Amino acid sequence: MADRLLITHASIAGVGELDGGYGLLHDGAVLIDGDRIGWVGHTRDIDPALGGVRRVDADGCLLTPVLIDCHTHIVHGGNRAREFEMRLTGASYEDIARAGGGIVSTVTATRETDEATLLSEALKRTDSLIAEGVGVIEVKSGYGLDLDTELKMLRVARAIGRARPVRIITSFLGAHAVPRDMDADSYIDTVCIPALEAAHSEGLVDAVDGFCEGIAFDAAQIARVFDKARQLELPVKLHAEQLSNIGGARLAAEYGALSADHVEYADAKDAAAMAGAGTVAVLLPGAFYTLHETQTPPVESFREYGVPMAVATDWNPGSSPLGSLLLAMNMACTLFGLTPAEALAGTTRNAARALGLDDCGVVAPGMRADLALWDVGDPAELSCCFGVNALKARFFGGRT
Ligand code: NIG
Ligand code: FE
Repeated sequence: MADRLLITHASIAGVGELDGGYGLLHDGAVLIDGDRIGWVGHTRDIDPALGGVRRVDADGCLLTPVLIDCHTHIVHGGNRAREFEMRLTGASYEDIARAGGGIVSTVTATRETDEATLLSEALKRTDSLIAEGVGVIEVKSGYGLDLDTELKMLRVARAIGRARPVRIITSFLGAHAVPRDMDADSYIDTVCIPALEAAHSEGLVDAVDGFCEGIAFDAAQIARVFDKARQLELPVKLHAEQLSNIGGARLAAEYGALSADHVEYADAKDAAAMAGAGTVAVLLPGAFYTLHETQTPPVESFREYGVPMAVATDWNPGSSPLGSLLLAMNMACTLFGLTPAEALAGTTRNAARALGLDDCGVVAPGMRADLALWDVGDPAELSCCFGVNALKARFFGGRT
């Protein structure tokens, strides 16, 4: 029989409510049955037939699903600390990109870094997310911009999931930046799309992403990549309306994207289109903060139209060197006006949805037994405090 474990006397934030709340259950209990949740209820209602099952007394601590970081670039070579210094003296993200810095400088470093080194560096980042109760991490390619390096990045991403107790979801982000020696159209047709086909045939791609922006690709170019994704039956997502509104969010909605990410410059019409398509708005306050942005995402419109909002680190060496999902939650509240309940739903239920996952993100029977136990009395503390990690225990596939 599969291993069984009862967690008792927990304050459970199941985040299964659709009303924007935590779905709180006081003095709750969870039966873990193998790698799944078998039962959730009040501690007093535990079936007496479970008398012999091993128990962990949570002593009133908060139990949530594991956190899900649904947008990262944690596989990359090099660092971009110099750009941080340039921004402090007034250079913008676009200035730096046009001067040959930005994404393409990480491309050079990633091409030059061997697979083993990329993996060991990515594992350090993974470990710090795991230490904060993260159990699912989305990892993008996009610092290769050639076939070999895009595949290398995705292989490293898959290797993280074999090396650590964490679930890795990959996104092919070939359409991230235009390489120095090519024009955007020929790059899409002769490098990006063939690399996507090759990565897919190796089983390396869970979703297809792109960067729709003045300094990257326009909507027509991204549409060609999305057409290929559709042919391969892969879901899509998009970096959209980060620095300007050029129709990325609407394009994402037209293709039924899982998510449109950043979306600071999205408007009410974009929100309506995203709601119609079931596209999640992934908010990335780390990039907003790092780039000294002032335009905040249309959170009110997302609420009004019922667009689910997720929150992620966007951990990358340039625009968001943010290694803490808990801090991203705090920033989403303070900078974007999310409630702490929205921030928690944004790193659990809605983050799962942004990745197309339906077996995690809520505490409910049948879901994966991927849970986090926190030494806090009120779930709002997870977002309110920063520089504080209250994680007490983490269960992944039912095991600590
Ligand atoms: O999500 N916006 C585009 N892509 C990344 C930036 C990556 C980088 O600056 O290296 C992002 O912010
Ligand atoms: Fe990103």
